[in-house]
Amino acid sequence: MNEEIFLTLKGWFNKYVSTYSFPNPTDQRNIDLKFEHTYKVVELITTIGEEILSAEELYLAKITALFHDLGRFEQYKRYKTFSDAKSEDHAALAIKIILENDLLAEISQESSQLILKAISYHNKMNLPEDETDKVLLYSKLIRDADKLDIWRVVINDYNQEDNNKVVGLGLTSKDDISNSICQQIIAEKPVDYKDLKTLNDLKLTQMGWVYDINFQKSLKIIEEREYIDKLFMTLPPSDKAREVYEQIKSYINNKLAL
Ligand SMILES: [Fe+2]
Repeated sequence: MNEEIFLTLKGWFNKYVSTYSFPNPTDQRNIDLKFEHTYKVVELITTIGEEILSAEELYLAKITALFHDLGRFEQYKRYKTFSDAKSEDHAALAIKIILENDLLAEISQESSQLILKAISYHNKMNLPEDETDKVLLYSKLIRDADKLDIWRVVINDYNQEDNNKVVGLGLTSKDDISNSICQQIIAEKPVDYKDLKTLNDLKLTQMGWVYDINFQKSLKIIEEREYIDKLFMTLPPSDKAREVYEQIKSYINNKLAL
């Protein structure tokens, strides 16, 4: 039953995304990027979730992952950007599309609410405190799985000669690193994207996502894939950046030693 629902939703998703085709190869590449990302996030949420969820619960997590970025395609079509700040909240857009198409019709009201809430929280700076443990659990799972794959996407991009303007949120690739950004990361505070001045600021912010990681399994994947080291290597030599790097590395090591 669950497998069947998931397969049907996957079929719907594939068909939906295929209606977003662009003549310009760069535009098409950005759509393909989000399509591929979606399936990687489904895989990752399975890897993290299978240790802590029942088979039934795991399907709900996989549906959350399948639809978490559903708003990205329409966002790109309308605004040609993946920056929510410059356009609109892509999670809210995803929820609108899910409801308009009645995609969760086969799922209980309670589980549907769980999926929708987790999607709505997946891209927010902080999780709300007044939510049920269940909603928080699914929100944490999607947030971890999402970040784990975004690291793959951005590291790939930063190592290309010609950076994708959309992946880099259109920030300049000047050598500058903002002091205030480093200080916020060292204080383990989430950075507001509005404060970012350069691509290096964004890279450091993405290194700092580690503080927002919820599961031990996710930290293991970060280390296995050497994400923090790979991001650090794309930065220009800088004492400030090294301080951020070293602090993050020791944070991971301490957490993994628990
Ligand atoms: Fe995502």
